[in-house]
Amino acid sequence: MKMNKSKKIDIAERFGGKGIFPYQLAFTLLMPIRNIFLSPKKLIQRLEIKEDSIILEIGSGPGYFSIKIAESISKGKLILADIQQEMLDYAKKRIDKKGLKNVEYYLCDGKTLQFPDNSFDRIFMVTVIGEVENKEEYMKEFYRILKNDGILSISELAGDPDKMTIEDIKVLAENSGFKFYKIYGNKKNFTINFKKHNGTQHGKKQ
Ligand SMILES: C[S@@+](CC[C@H](N)C(=O)[O-])C[C@H]1O[C@@H](n2cnc3c(N)ncnc32)[C@H](O)[C@@H]1O
Repeated sequence: MKMNKSKKIDIAERFGGKGIFPYQLAFTLLMPIRNIFLSPKKLIQRLEIKEDSIILEIGSGPGYFSIKIAESISKGKLILADIQQEMLDYAKKRIDKKGLKNVEYYLCDGKTLQFPDNSFDRIFMVTVIGEVENKEEYMKEFYRILKNDGILSISELAGDPDKMTIEDIKVLAENSGFKFYKIYGNKKNFTINFKKHNGTQHGKKQ
């Protein structure tokens, strides 16, 4: 399909601007140079994944991190969630090529996440949180659908125009009841992990 000139300009502008990352530029998210900032291998370690983990990836895009994560949970399941169907289709195409059978796909409506309470061992996102329009609503949903001993993991990388600071992410998560657990990296490129409780309250909702 031919794209008109103004559409091309919109996409080019968005590449350096804020808002939902355009699916037309999804290929740029698959450049291996990204490993300098965060590799799938490093993320797997930071997520403390077990082979039977049930994992939700929010804003998967074309699945740069997803393949290696799905491969590391031979007895588990990975659900890719994105607000753009085109991103999920792109990720599925790549994942199907690898023959992975433990991956499912979920199209987000931007407000609620239609999963039962206490569904996931891990919920993670990479360069996504700044783009999410309804951050507080999402945080409340993460709290509800994460298992009591689960981990919510948020990674932000240099160069993302929507990047949030460590401090702002802490406030956002703690306002929804999450407790700070661990942090990796530096101010420019980091992964910050939260739990539902700090180990002394045994997962009781506060
Ligand atoms: C910059 S891309 C990052 C993709 C992937 N995490 C990566 O690092 O390669 C951000 C992704 O978040 C998705 N996104 C933005 N807002 C969202 C929302 N409210 N719910 C789910 N996905 C969202 C976009 O569609 C896009 O695929």
